[in-house]
Amino acid sequence: MKKITKICCIGAGYVGGPTMSVIANKCPEIQVTVVDINKARIAQWNTDNLDNLPIYEPGLKEIVGESRGKNLFFSTDVDKAIDEAQMIFISVNTPTKTYGKGKGQAADLKFIELCARNIAKVAKDDKIVVEKSTLPVRTAQAIQNILDNTGNSVHFEILSNPEFLAEGTAIDDLLHADRVLIGGNDTPSGQAAKDALSAVYEHWLPKERILQTNVWSSELSKLVANAFLAQRVSSINTISALCEKTDANVQEISRAIGYDSRIGPKFLNASVGFGGSCFQKDILNLVYIARSYGLNEVADYWEQVIIANDYQKRRFAENIISTLYNTVSGKKIVLYGWAFKKDTNDTRESPAIAVADALLEERAEILVYDPKVSEDRIYADLDYLGTRTPQENRKLLKVTPDPIEATKEAHAIAIVTEWDAFKTYDWQAIYDHMLKPAFVFDGRRILDTQTMKKIGFNYYKIGE
Ligand code: UDX
Ligand code: UDX
Repeated sequence: MKKITKICCIGAGYVGGPTMSVIANKCPEIQVTVVDINKARIAQWNTDNLDNLPIYEPGLKEIVGESRGKNLFFSTDVDKAIDEAQMIFISVNTPTKTYGKGKGQAADLKFIELCARNIAKVAKDDKIVVEKSTLPVRTAQAIQNILDNTGNSVHFEILSNPEFLAEGTAIDDLLHADRVLIGGNDTPSGQAAKDALSAVYEHWLPKERILQTNVWSSELSKLVANAFLAQRVSSINTISALCEKTDANVQEISRAIGYDSRIGPKFLNASVGFGGSCFQKDILNLVYIARSYGLNEVADYWEQVIIANDYQKRRFAENIISTLYNTVSGKKIVLYGWAFKKDTNDTRESPAIAVADALLEERAEILVYDPKVSEDRIYADLDYLGTRTPQENRKLLKVTPDPIEATKEAHAIAIVTEWDAFKTYDWQAIYDHMLKPAFVFDGRRILDTQTMKKIGFNYYKIGE
C-alpha cells in the first residue's frame, strides 16, 4: 500500500468537518480536502471570519484557523479531490427513510450510493474508501459491489471507521478518543488498508486504542454503542417519572447507582429526552435490521428505548399544560434553548421541537431563545413536522435575541437545552417582571430548587 499523502472527505458536515480538521492538524504531511455538493456550506467553511464556520463546536475555529490553506482545504470540486486522494472518507448524511420500504426506520442510503458511483466513475488508481457515516450493517458490501461493477477496474478496499464524537465536545473527543474502530477485510490488502488508516490516527493516539475488527462488527458496534447510551438515558428518564410521583429524587438515584463501578456515573442525567442526529436514527436502524431477520423480540426490546423517549418529551409538555390550569391558549411561554444539547447549533431530533409542537397545538404563544441556533433553522424544524402551516408557525412562535426581555409578562419559562449561561441569569429580575404565579419548568435540571423557590417561582424540575 502506498503511503497516504492525500485524503479526501465527501461531506463537510458535523462529522466530516471536525474530523478532517483534526486529522489535518495532527498530520501536517497529509493534504486533506473536504468536499461537499452544498456550495453555501463550503463557502462558509472558507469564510475569513472564523466565527462564521457552518457549525459551532468549541475548539474548532482555532484548529481550522491553524490548518486551513496549509494542508486543509474545503472545496466543491468533488471529482478532483477523489481523483487525487489515496484514501476517501464518506461522511454524508444518512437520514431515516421518509418513503417506501422501511419508511420511518431504515436509513436512506441514496447519498452513500451516489458517492460510491461517483468514486467508481472518477478513480483511475487504487483507493481506500472509508465509511465514516453510520450505516446499517452490510452497507460496505453494497458499496463494494457498486465500486467493483461500475469502476475502471481499479482495486477498492472498503473500511468501516465509525465516528464516536459527540457534538459540543467533538474536538476533545477526537483528540482524546477512548477508542478508534477500524473494520476491514481479513485479506492482505484489507490488512494493509487497516494499517494505513491506523497510521493516520497513530499521529496522536496510542496504538492500543485503535481496534481492528471485521467490517460487520465495526458497523454494528456503532449502532450498538449509541443504542446502549440512549438506553441509559431512557432508563433514567422512566425513573424520573416515578420520582415525580414519589418523594424520591432522580439525581440522588443517579448518584447512588452511578457509584456502582459496574454501572458508572455517566449518561445518567434525567432530561426532557434525548435528541441528536444519531440516537434515534441508529436505534431505528437496529430495530429495522433485527426485524428484517425475523428477530421480533430483539426489535421490540430496542424500540422501547425510543418509545420511552417520546413519552418523556410528551410528559414534559403535558405537565406544562396541566400545571398552567389545563390551558395554555394565548399564554406566553418562553423556551430557553432549541439545540438538542448545549454547545452545539445542531437541532436534529431536538426535544425542543416536540415540546414546542405540543404547546402550539394548545395555541400557546411561544418565544424561543437559543444562543447559537438561527431563526431560519427553528422555523424549518417546525415546518418540517407539517403539523400546521408555516404562516401559523410564524404567527404563534417568535424567536428572540434577548432572553431576559423575552420573559416580561410571560406566564412560564421552559428550559429545554442545558446552556451554561441559563444558570447565571438574574432569576430574581426575571421573576419580578413575569406574570404571577410565575412558572419555570426545568427539563434539564440546571437550576437550584431552593433558590428558585425562595425567589417565589413555581419551579418544576424533571425527576423531582
Ligand atoms: C453524520 C454522519 O455522516 C451520519 O451518518 C451520522 O449518523 C450523523 O452524522 P453529519 O456530518 O452530521 O452526518 O451530517 P451533515 O451535517 O448533514 O453533513 C453531511 C454533508 O454531506 C452535507 O453538508 C451534505 O451537503 C453533504 N453531501 C450529502 C454531499 O456532499 N454529497 C451527497 O451526495 C450528499
Ligand atoms: C452521540 C454519541 O454520544 C456519540 O458517540 C456518537 O458518535 C453520536 O451520537 P451526540 O448525539 O452528539 O453523540 O450527543 P450525546 O452527548 O450523546 O447526547 C445525546 C442526547 O442525549 C442529547 O440530547 C443529550 O442532551 C441527551 N443526554 C445525554 C441526556 O439526556 N442525559 C444524559 O445523561 C446524557
